[in-house]
Amino acid sequence: MVLLDLQGQLRRMSDAAVIRFILDGELIEVDNVDPTRTVLQYLREDLRRMGTKEGCAEGDCGACTVVLAELRRDGKGVELKAVNSCIQFLPTLDGKELITVESLVNGEELHPVQKAMVDYHASQCGFCTPGFIMSLFALYETNPNPDRLDIDDALAGNLCRCTGYRPIITAALEMGFLPRQTWPDRTMALKKIQRKESLQIEYQGRRFFAPENCAELASLLQQYPGATMLAGGTDVGLWVTKQHRELDVVIYTGKVAELCELQVTATHIDIGGAVTLSEAVPIVVEHYPGFDELFRRFASPPIRNAGTLGGNIANGSPIGDSMTAFMVVGTSLVLRCGDAERDVMLDGFYHDYMTNDLQPGEFVVRIKIPLPTENAVVSSQKWSKRFDQDISAVCTAYRLVVDDGTVSSFRMACGGLAATVSRARNTEAAVVGQPWTEATIENACQAIAADFAPISDMRASANIRLQASQNMLRRFFAETQDEELETVYMYGRQR
Ligand SMILES: Cc1cc2nc3c(=O)[nH]c(=O)nc-3n(C[C@H](O)[C@H](O)[C@H](O)COP(=O)(O)OP(=O)(O)OC[C@H]3O[C@@H](n4cnc5c(N)ncnc54)[C@H](O)[C@@H]3O)c2cc1C
Ligand code: FES
Ligand code: FES
Repeated sequence: MVLLDLQGQLRRMSDAAVIRFILDGELIEVDNVDPTRTVLQYLREDLRRMGTKEGCAEGDCGACTVVLAELRRDGKGVELKAVNSCIQFLPTLDGKELITVESLVNGEELHPVQKAMVDYHASQCGFCTPGFIMSLFALYETNPNPDRLDIDDALAGNLCRCTGYRPIITAALEMGFLPRQTWPDRTMALKKIQRKESLQIEYQGRRFFAPENCAELASLLQQYPGATMLAGGTDVGLWVTKQHRELDVVIYTGKVAELCELQVTATHIDIGGAVTLSEAVPIVVEHYPGFDELFRRFASPPIRNAGTLGGNIANGSPIGDSMTAFMVVGTSLVLRCGDAERDVMLDGFYHDYMTNDLQPGEFVVRIKIPLPTENAVVSSQKWSKRFDQDISAVCTAYRLVVDDGTVSSFRMACGGLAATVSRARNTEAAVVGQPWTEATIENACQAIAADFAPISDMRASANIRLQASQNMLRRFFAETQDEELETVYMYGRQR
């Protein structure tokens, strides 16, 4: 590790194997490091910065939350995002600023977020506190006047076992009334450390590549068809921290320019394979408000700041949420292998448990979500044990078109029920051509049993899952009858 003054010489600027980032206003260069070493391990074990804590090491508790500042893709300044350092690999810091709880203290003076936590007695044992501070710091920097719901959402990924949330929320509501401190704008410094050649690390037989464009990515995947593609690492990170897998070749997509593009065309929302959930979700929800609650309950802000839709779709977990929603609106994927691209429908992409249509060396370039049509009602529901930051026991989505009281088109998809997320074809057939009535829905509920062989696990038994999916369909029907019902079902939370 080398610490360099930013004004000084960048001694190894041309070295493709050196990870460079900013910490406390200084340039840090790291080389000769295991590329799957986590940011948390690096902070605690290498730098001995012990403020950032380890609770679960799987992105669930928020004790390890840090904030990353990175250049906006539109070139307009810097954006700050909370992430879980326990599942972020160190090389993904390259070109960014890392902010930890220690970074916030200015001499003897506490940051307003820290001061509010002290003033309102928002910490007891203190183990969770650095994580809460960092999530609140990200909120403080991005939203100067947060309301209660903004605070609840910002803290969805932080667990406190002893203080209780009331004083923490009070501190969050009050932090903005303390004398303001603005985080230094490091746009110029970050521009200086953007690299001209892509990062390539080799460490004791392990390799890490961070290609800068699609052609480079495609060619690397041809060279290493068995490589692990890494996007946000919110699935892959756990393979290392929980399953202790050794990843020999890792290819990171976070710097591939084309994969980071997000645009709305005349017909589609076009989302690059490395666009994060935090970037994509507002656009998706703007066009499909019926997906709002589902994506608000998708993990937590730190996970959504790192995790991508491409990763969610490619990982293909039976409990993945985005595929359920996207399947009913006719989403397709653009895949690339070498120089060849092909389009596939998301419906049909999954063959079996965690098995999809991707061939060796092939990757998701773009996700194409058709824009909504005026006459279709689109909605989704997530059923889990906790409102926030919980994996779905059952997730459902619907797209309905009714003409003169008769259903002309109906699509339903379910996640969490069986080995893959899929459409409910028998249920759909039981509804299409029928009047949109309670009797039709009761009949369709019986068909769900023919569509899925529900699984049993610690989240729910097969029987409960089946009943839940039937009740969710009944709920969708009820919502179409009375708009007010939707907010009642949303646990009383109203935007
Ligand atoms: C605490 C926690 C809560 C979570 N909650 C939810 C939840 O509520 N709902 C939910 O659905 N998921 C949830 N997840 C799972 C995870 O966050 C998502 O699946 C996420 O979208 C994965 O994206 P990623 O960018 O982190 O993928 P990564 O972990 O980087 O990669 C996942 C897989 O996709 C592959 N991959 C990535 N990009 C591409 C590409 N462009 N082309 C081909 N393959 C690619 C990788 O090789 C890997 O196999 C949660 C995870 C955690 C840790
Ligand atoms: S240690 Fe629990 S989220 Fe990272
Ligand atoms: S203060 Fe003890 S866990 Fe939150």
